[in-house]
Amino acid sequence: MITLSNIHKSYRSAAGKELVLKNLDFSIDKGEYVAIMGSSGSGKSTLMNIIGTLETADAGEYRYEDRRINTLSKGKLTQLRNEQMGFVFQNFQLIPNLSIYQNVMLPLIYNRKWFIRKKEYVRKAIESVGLQAKMRQKPHQLSGGQKQRVAIARAIVNEPALLLADEPTGSLDEENTEFILNIFDDLHQKGVTIILITHDAEVAKRAQRTMMLKGGVLKEVQL
Ligand SMILES: Nc1ncnc2c1ncn2[C@@H]1O[C@H](COP(=O)(O)OP(=O)(O)O)[C@@H](O)[C@H]1O
Ligand SMILES: [Mg+2]
Repeated sequence: MITLSNIHKSYRSAAGKELVLKNLDFSIDKGEYVAIMGSSGSGKSTLMNIIGTLETADAGEYRYEDRRINTLSKGKLTQLRNEQMGFVFQNFQLIPNLSIYQNVMLPLIYNRKWFIRKKEYVRKAIESVGLQAKMRQKPHQLSGGQKQRVAIARAIVNEPALLLADEPTGSLDEENTEFILNIFDDLHQKGVTIILITHDAEVAKRAQRTMMLKGGVLKEVQL
């Protein structure tokens, strides 16, 4: 489903050029559940953004199914992202002045494909994370675990083939972590491909495969 070959990414700062991803080769099959681990600053979010087509690599090739990402126009990339991918960002990233219902609807607003049955999909996504009673509330009225469930509902409302989650349990207690991981297990059962970024080995164990990002290089590890 995803093939990265020879991916390089560096950032320039006052301190000079920092090579974040070095010669990265990596592929994921449809339906796989993969965890990516690595210490803070090792480039996990950068890699997720490249896979999510939110950032581009400096060199190398990225293929998503039969599409060569490097050659797609901005419009085509946006369409691919809207139709195929769901994102759970670090720290929820909910819009504070919108209700839970409106937050979850956001990914569908620019998406013609979903326009007609929009309300039905939003309800379904909110129900799947067990928050139907909170639909009209604002994010600040929810607990951390509930906010993360809203972020997951927003990520799956377009029924993505690929779910990208950046440390989704990083700030959660054990009970909420378990709740979120069970949702991911269900999605995986339904055939969704999942990439889960985490620094917690217990969380990573829920995936089928774990990769470790270190020194700009990604390696398969056994937990
Ligand atoms: N937009 C950016 N501009 C400059 N440097 C960046 C940018 N994004 C990330 N970096 C740097 O790249 C490295 C990897 O960052 P990141 O991918 O966020 O790591 P992680 O998610 O593993 O903590 C860090 O040293 C970070 O400071
Ligand atoms: Mg990060």
